[in-house]
Amino acid sequence: MPNASVSYGLIEGSAARGLDFLAGESIGVIGCGHLGSAIALQLVSGGFPIDRLRVSRGKSDGSLQKIIDAGLGPCLAGNEEICRDCSIIFICIRPQSLPELQPLTFSRNALVVSCLAGVSLPAIRRLLGADAVRMMPSGPDSILEGKGIAAIYPHNQALSQILQALGLRVFELAEEDQIHVFTAGICLPAALAASVVGEGGMEDACQSRSRDYPDFPKICSWARETVPRFEGEEDKRNYISRVATRGGVTEAMLESLRRNGDLKAAIKRGIERSREISRLYEEPK
Ligand SMILES: NC(=O)c1ccc[n+]([C@@H]2O[C@H](COP(=O)([O-])OP(=O)(O)OC[C@H]3O[C@@H](n4cnc5c(N)ncnc54)[C@H](OP(=O)(O)O)[C@@H]3O)[C@@H](O)[C@H]2O)c1
Repeated sequence: MPNASVSYGLIEGSAARGLDFLAGESIGVIGCGHLGSAIALQLVSGGFPIDRLRVSRGKSDGSLQKIIDAGLGPCLAGNEEICRDCSIIFICIRPQSLPELQPLTFSRNALVVSCLAGVSLPAIRRLLGADAVRMMPSGPDSILEGKGIAAIYPHNQALSQILQALGLRVFELAEEDQIHVFTAGICLPAALAASVVGEGGMEDACQSRSRDYPDFPKICSWARETVPRFEGEEDKRNYISRVATRGGVTEAMLESLRRNGDLKAAIKRGIERSREISRLYEEPK
């Protein structure tokens, strides 16, 4: 249910504001991949002390090397240690990896933030026993450039404050279901980078979702401004790979665009993919 005391929509004020209010907190990032490392690096560049930051990784050698290359090696920790020691925990693993976290115990006092596309709060509660807040941020490049946006549900003042301090524009969602449309929206920069979409096609695609989610045209404007200029094809491919989580919503939208070149259809496919991931974790009837 919408929280009556909250004004839903964009919270203005995107400038990074310093992280002094986090004195005494320790922050953990479970799954330090593309998104997790962007959050961790943005915390560090905002002045958060590295000795109070913990990050964890999966089993591949590649993920270890990327953490070391990013300078986050000293923050490496196990998931158990993060759950034991951290007061704020961002979960940034791929949705398919969620069952691996089932043995963990999350403290009731910790602020647990799930960045997983598609996985609902009831599913997180059932699988992890945690009352999490959902957050759907834009891609790593946008976060690191201070041009990021993020939806959160339900309202959480502390998370909202952290994200704004990291330079993200925050959109409070009135209902959890709106996150599917928002998720397709944050994939738009990759879709626009990958294909040529005329002004008419863009306008049509943006208006098509404003009934389900009134802020969607604002997300479209953000997406248009966010697509970077690329040095060449390789640069573009690398950008797209950082936002396209394997098996995720961006990937589904890009496939749809490749098939028929229609942005409106790609957004529809992205929303469907987000709902499909949701269904993977629905309680069996
Ligand atoms: N990328 C985006 O733009 C974006 C935007 C919004 C939301 N999201 C969401 O953020 C999540 C991560 O996306 P991503 O693109 O960052 O994916 P990613 O680059 O594949 O990162 C996931 C990371 O989690 C690690 N991991 C796997 N199992 C783990 C475990 N049991 N414990 C700790 N770490 C583990 C992986 O390591 P290995 O590679 O070694 O397995 C990898 O480093 C997804 O749920 C996605 O829906 C992503």
